[in-house]
Amino acid sequence: MSIIDLKSALELNKISQGTVFINELPIVRSGKKSDFMIGNFICRDQEVEFRIWEPSIFQTVLDNGPGIYDVEVIGNSYNEKEYLTVRSIAPSLNPELDKSSFLNSIPTILLESNLRRVQERLTNLGVTPKCWALIDSVINDPFLEGRFQVEGAAIRYHDNVIGGLMHHTTKMLNILAAMLENNPQLRASADLLCFAVSVHDIGKVFEYNNLEVSDFWYSSHRVRGIEYLARFKDRIIDDYDEEFYRQAQAAIAGHHGEYGDRPTTVATAIIHYIDTLESQATRLIQELEAAHGGRIYDRDWGFLEGLRLGES
Ligand SMILES: [Fe+2]
Ligand SMILES: [Fe+2]
Repeated sequence: MSIIDLKSALELNKISQGTVFINELPIVRSGKKSDFMIGNFICRDQEVEFRIWEPSIFQTVLDNGPGIYDVEVIGNSYNEKEYLTVRSIAPSLNPELDKSSFLNSIPTILLESNLRRVQERLTNLGVTPKCWALIDSVINDPFLEGRFQVEGAAIRYHDNVIGGLMHHTTKMLNILAAMLENNPQLRASADLLCFAVSVHDIGKVFEYNNLEVSDFWYSSHRVRGIEYLARFKDRIIDDYDEEFYRQAQAAIAGHHGEYGDRPTTVATAIIHYIDTLESQATRLIQELEAAHGGRIYDRDWGFLEGLRLGES
């Protein structure tokens, strides 16, 4: 069986057979007749919703969890929203396929050159070598086994690709550089802002495991990030002071703004805005790239008309 082209499978009433990937345990909802399952298939840039109406069919997914499956699906739509109805599903027996066959990855060479470029930019705006050395120690500590560079920034929505966490962090550093250019008053706190942005999502290496949720996902990347940072407490206080360490903790705790602990410092509020701008713009672009008819559906605003994309 070959991998299903998700976009073309969406064609109304088209029946497709092939292999798909589920990276997140779907949810089960109660319907008029019986419970049904809603989830997403992921393949490279494509993310397509599926539904399974029969409990006897979706039990297989509950029993086996996220992974690679062989399916028969039929294209469907409801209120202009397209999805796939799953008619049969079983764990795939094809040994040649693994997660990397379905997930996009950002080449390491690109991640590294982007980071180098923004480091240069931020150094010119006041970030010190002491700060870069500290960031290097925290994100490359052997305890993390190099996972800051491979983990995704999210399982869905934005930068849900191998390397996405570092990519998202680097893009935020670029926005921070623009902030420091626009607001020279902030440069006195360049080290703190740069450090806090660099580590704000570091706990995702514990919340996720190769773009699947980890066993202890429920304690959140904010709590896990603060816990991880405690390993460097003495070093940070020696290099800077306790205020720097507490401010970094506050930024990790509050960077989700109203969707988490309320921000308690100005640095946290700024980082929350940078995080939201970066992740939401990336989400919109990803959705637009995957969109069928050139427009996308936004949960809060309804349909958004498309924008021409392409390099230059
Ligand atoms: Fe976060
Ligand atoms: Fe983030």
